[in-house]
Amino acid sequence: MDAEREREFDRVVAAEQRVEPRDWMPDGYRKTLIRQIAQHAHSEIIGMQPEANWISRAPSLRRKAILLAKVQDEAGHGLYLYAATETLGADREDLTTRLVQGRQKYSSIFNYPTLTFADVGVIGWLVDGAAICNQVPLCRTSYGPYARAMIRVCKEESFHQRQGYELLMTMMRGTEAQRRMVQDAVDRWWWPSLMMFGPPDDASSNTERSMAWRIKRHTNDELRQKFVDMTVPQAEALGVTLPDPELRWNPERGHHDFGQIDWDEFWRVVGGDGPCNRQRVDHRRAAHENGAWVREAAAAYAAKQARQEGA
Ligand code: 3HC
Repeated sequence: MDAEREREFDRVVAAEQRVEPRDWMPDGYRKTLIRQIAQHAHSEIIGMQPEANWISRAPSLRRKAILLAKVQDEAGHGLYLYAATETLGADREDLTTRLVQGRQKYSSIFNYPTLTFADVGVIGWLVDGAAICNQVPLCRTSYGPYARAMIRVCKEESFHQRQGYELLMTMMRGTEAQRRMVQDAVDRWWWPSLMMFGPPDDASSNTERSMAWRIKRHTNDELRQKFVDMTVPQAEALGVTLPDPELRWNPERGHHDFGQIDWDEFWRVVGGDGPCNRQRVDHRRAAHENGAWVREAAAAYAAKQARQEGA
């Protein structure tokens, strides 16, 4: 019976159709989807912290309003994605427990500090720009609820990337001190942004299987290269220097060559030893604990409503 159902599953995936929650799916497919989507959701929620640091310090009401909207969007992205994991049978409380206990990951990029307001612009430009490179193909991922969540997420990411770039363009037209602030932020965020795409393909334990199941549509290195090629002209237009002396156009390849990423730093940060890992997870744990009363009240209200409707 499972052989027949596996053939049907493989046919659906090969035909670029969507696998839906009620469809039969291999346990491994379900498991890696919960792993990837949960970590994506954790990244969105943890990712609120670096920029939220600047909401009360924004230089104008306009910048504060834009930043508020962006951070709220990230919360919404996390909720869509947790909802997608629940269609696979995952439990949101359990996923949060795994996150705060370090048994599930979130994107390494959010373990770096936001030292100046230029970081807010560089995160929008580079981090959300990298997210767009990574998330647009996921609009074609084989699992229906994930693909549909990505369509809305990508529309909002475009706003995130544009507001960051516009902020930086404004600063680059400002004072020499503002221009130095932008270049300092670019120097600090460029290499960690390249790490967002994951380890090199030959060190990626999940890519081959995820590509076969059409969960991932491109490999880590393919998307990293696409991001570099997209970003170089943007940096030139902005008037900043990307901190990589080996970065240059390679006409034979039709792509930019770039320097060696510090994979020791990547695995150290992924392993919990980055500049802000402890702070980010402690903050997430405290928010979850302090919010317990809200979840209990909502559950009690829902139970009361159900009793009254059932009465
Ligand atoms: N940070 C932390 N862990 C990472 C990582 C990163 N940047 N890149 C890879 N890893 C982990 C993987 O999770 C995996 O560990 P696991 O097996 O315990 O999950 C291990 O390193 C090996 O990596 P693989 O390449 O084998 O893992 P994947 O096939 O899952 O590829 C990925 C990693 C490219 C991040 C993929 O999971 C993916 O595309 N995820 C969806 C997008 C996403 O999560 N983006 C994160 C940022 S969210 C964001 O940017 C929001 C925006 O608003 C700013």
